[in-house]
Amino acid sequence: MTGDPRLEALVAQVRQSRKYRAVAEPLVRRIGAAELRRRSSLGEAVKATKNKLHQVAGLYFAGQPDYDGWLRQIAQATDEGARRAALRAIMAQHASTRERLPILESFYQRVFADIAPVRSVLDLACGLNPLSLPWMPLAAGATYHAVDVYEDLVDFLQRALALLGAAGRAEVRDLLAGSPADEADVALLLKAIPCLEQLDPAAGAFILDTINVRHIVVSFPTRTVGGWDVGMRQAYAARFRALTAGRRWHVEPIAFAGELVFRVTK
Ligand SMILES: C[S@@+](CC[C@H](N)C(=O)[O-])C[C@H]1O[C@@H](n2cnc3c(N)ncnc32)[C@H](O)[C@@H]1O
Repeated sequence: MTGDPRLEALVAQVRQSRKYRAVAEPLVRRIGAAELRRRSSLGEAVKATKNKLHQVAGLYFAGQPDYDGWLRQIAQATDEGARRAALRAIMAQHASTRERLPILESFYQRVFADIAPVRSVLDLACGLNPLSLPWMPLAAGATYHAVDVYEDLVDFLQRALALLGAAGRAEVRDLLAGSPADEADVALLLKAIPCLEQLDPAAGAFILDTINVRHIVVSFPTRTVGGWDVGMRQAYAARFRALTAGRRWHVEPIAFAGELVFRVTK
């Protein structure tokens, strides 16, 4: 409890809405507190908080996710081909994974190519990306730790990882409050920095500096969610250069159509 009745009212109102009721409360509270400082009325702060949550998370879903239906589709797939088709169809429901589908066959082959064996993966601000697991060339028995800010998404991923036979776990976490402390061979920070930096301009540097991993695969979108090319490739390449300037890290760009990808080795 913060003791601020306006913040409590804001959090309750935001979490009443179907679209935002599953967003981790600490994130709603963080955004809400900042908006209350900026806005003159509670109503305006509630609206601004919902707008920000839309920009950083809600925008990417094609509609209301059907998590139970999706779990049934995965469970009912009779062979590997059918299972991959089901996973592709589900990943098409989130803009970030949908945009990656055309390059999915080569994406993880290339980003993990010369760093095998990969025995542990940390997928930060993961969205539906953990469903790409069957396309990842991981070592036998590799562990997968996925993190996102939606409680219902994380619950779905926990069950989906079990159905995929993965030694995985999914966790609700606001990354602005801190990164997971576990060590991993690889962290995936895919298309996440622009969202996180909307909430805190220092978030990208903070995560890159603090995670306990050897390799970090960082990516950025190259088009708007609506598909427009507005110079994002150049802008995010410059942002990434600024983020890594002065760090003694090895940075390797990996060229893909439709996604700007770098592999950082600490
Ligand atoms: C653009 S999507 C990228 C999804 C995924 N990494 C991919 O590329 O397929 C950004 C993700 O960040 C998550 N997110 C936003 N703010 C977050 C926060 N503060 N902590 C953890 N995750 C967050 C959103 O819920 C969303 O799933």
